[in-house]
Formats: sequence, structure tokens, C-alpha cells
Amino acid sequence: MPVEILSVANMPGLDLAAFEREFTMHWLWKAEDKAKLLAEVAPRVRGIQATGSSVVDAQLIGRLPKLEIIACCGVGYDGIDVAAARARNVLVTNTPDVLNDCVADLAIGLLVAASRGIGRGERHVRAGKWLQGGVPLATRVSGKRLGIVGMGRIGRVIAKRAAGFDLTIAYHARRKVPDLPFAYYDRLVELARDSDFLVAIVPGGKETFHLIDEAVLRALGPKGILVNVARGSVVDEAALVRCLQEGSLGGAGLDVFEEEPKMPEALWGMENVVLTPHIGSATHETRAAMSRLTLDNLAAHFAGRPVLTPVP
Ligand code: NAP
Ligand code: 8YV
Repeated sequence: MPVEILSVANMPGLDLAAFEREFTMHWLWKAEDKAKLLAEVAPRVRGIQATGSSVVDAQLIGRLPKLEIIACCGVGYDGIDVAAARARNVLVTNTPDVLNDCVADLAIGLLVAASRGIGRGERHVRAGKWLQGGVPLATRVSGKRLGIVGMGRIGRVIAKRAAGFDLTIAYHARRKVPDLPFAYYDRLVELARDSDFLVAIVPGGKETFHLIDEAVLRALGPKGILVNVARGSVVDEAALVRCLQEGSLGGAGLDVFEEEPKMPEALWGMENVVLTPHIGSATHETRAAMSRLTLDNLAAHFAGRPVLTPVP
């Protein structure tokens, strides 16, 4: 009997053909009548394929009596109700590590772009305005102080990249990481006060909701730059807009937003803000690795082997 998998979300780079070679796939995101497809396949579905942006809640889990595994194509799984899955003995897997390099690359890219005004300069040139004059001076990156919020798999790779810019690195997490040569701050607001740049790379979800609030943004200050490659929920977006508007924060590089793909339109016109559409892992190479790992987790489980990367 072929194993039936419900795909609740697509993303560029997901190898649909590879999934179809191994499983009977039900592409919910393709279906015109999603409720009808779900009602038809729910009694037979044994696995879910999701992404880091998917919501897999207790209600959906409850509708699938044969569900055994939720395989998330993404390292962040804040949209998946892990407690509800666990209560039903349903495994949850994600795709850690394979995306560390690309997310760290983007974090540094956003930092340099926001600090050096790359977007502003590019818009200036493309608009044919260089003939009338140049752009204002920007802010030096090298040699400054970088605060990293979250010193996990990706945070450490960001630190490695940042060392190449001679940045002095400090970090905040709930626990100090042993054997790291960086200063640890148990109070985020103090890290922000002592940093020129702050990069957020913690998981999303209730525990980190608005961790970066108005007090943290004000502590980072009028010359400070915030980079968020974590989740939109980690930053109080209304406070961020307010601080940028009144100049109490210097600039921002943002890959993630509270209500993607929506974002406050006020950000669109700000020259000191760099915006990308949640592309931290969006390279051919990394997405292929994520897709493969998601499939390998499903294949291992249904072959009776331990999954490769269960969530903790
Ligand atoms: P990880 O290895 O689990 O690291 C998470 C870090 O955050 C740890 O240092 C952890 O330390 C800290 N942390 C967790 N909860 C915290 C809290 N309440 N307050 C302060 N620090 C906290 O995760 P990762 O693989 O580096 O990934 C991090 C996140 O990046 C993902 O969950 C995802 O949301 C995001 N991400 C975004 C993109 C993108 O496209 N923009 C791509 C990939 C990942 P403690 O446990 O000691 O607190
Ligand atoms: C993906 C991500 O873009 O891994 C994560 O947590 O946010 C990104 O890699 C996401 O999984 C696609 O929705």
C-alpha cells in the first residue's frame, strides 16, 4: 500500500517530483477546493510535509487519524503545534544545519546593505540621479560592535562571518554557551545598549514574541541597525516603524515580518531600511538540501528507521 502524504505548503526548491517518486502526494496548496481534498484524503494520510512558514495546528492534526509524522522543510517550526503532535505520538522533523551558511550570508548581506546604504545607492543610480549628485555618507561596518540575539547553529555561523569584518561580537540567549570567546549578556536591553548592530536569529513562537521591543530598539539607538533574519514575531514591528520614523533607531535590514507577505507600507519609503521577502535559505543549493532532508526524514520513518532530524 503506497504511503499517502499531505503537502500543506510549497516553496521554491521543493523537489515535487522526488516526493512523488516515493509517496502518493496530496498537494493541498494546489487544490482549488481544499476542504474537499482534505475531506477525501484525511482518513488515509500518514504524513504531512510542511514548510517553516506553515501552520499545522491541533485541529488539522486531529482530523488525520492515521498521522504518524510531520516533516517540516525549514529549521523553524513555530507554526507547528508540537505539543498536539506529541500528544498523538506524531513525530515532527525539521531541516537544521543545511541552511546555516545561506542564512548567515544573508544576515551579513543585510547588515552591510543597511549600514552602507547599498539599496539607497542602487535606487539613486537606477533613477538616473547620479548626474545631479551623489548620496549621503553611510556608516562604517568594520570594527564595530555586533550583538547576536540567539547563538545557536546559525548565530555561530553569523559570528564566524562577522569576525572577518573585525566586528566585536557579543550575544544574548537564555543560557551562556560554554567555550565561546564572546561576551554573554543575560539582559537583551544591555546587549542592545552596548552594540552598534543587532542581528536576531532566535526561533519564533510564544517565548520570543516581541523579544525585541521598543526598549531594546531605543537602547540600540539612533545610530544602531537592527537585522532580523529570525521571525517577524520576534520584533515589535509597530515599535520598529515608530523608532525608524522618529530617528530613535538608525536603520534596519529585514528578511521576515509579522504578517508575511504583508508588511507595514511605511517601511517601503524608508531609505535606511533594506527589505527582502524571507529569502534566508532561498538558494538553489540550500533549498535542494532542505528538500532532500525533508524527504529523507519521511522515507526513513516509513522504512522503519529512525528519522534523521527530529525536533528536540
Ligand atoms: P537554534 O540552533 O535552535 O538556535 C536558537 C538560539 O536562540 C539559541 O542560541 C537559543 O539559546 C536562543 N533562544 C531560544 N529561545 C530564546 C529566548 N526565548 N530568548 C533568547 N534566546 C533564545 O536555531 P537555528 O538553527 O540557529 O535557527 C534559528 C531560527 O532562525 C529558526 O528557528 C528560524 O526561525 C530562523 N530562520 C530564518 C530563516 C530565514 O529564511 N530568514 C531561515 C532559517 C532559520 P537558548 O536556548 O540558550 O536560549
Ligand atoms: C524557509 C525558514 O524560507 O528554515 C526556516 O525556518 O524560515 C526558511 O528556511 C521557510 O521554511 C519557507 O517557508
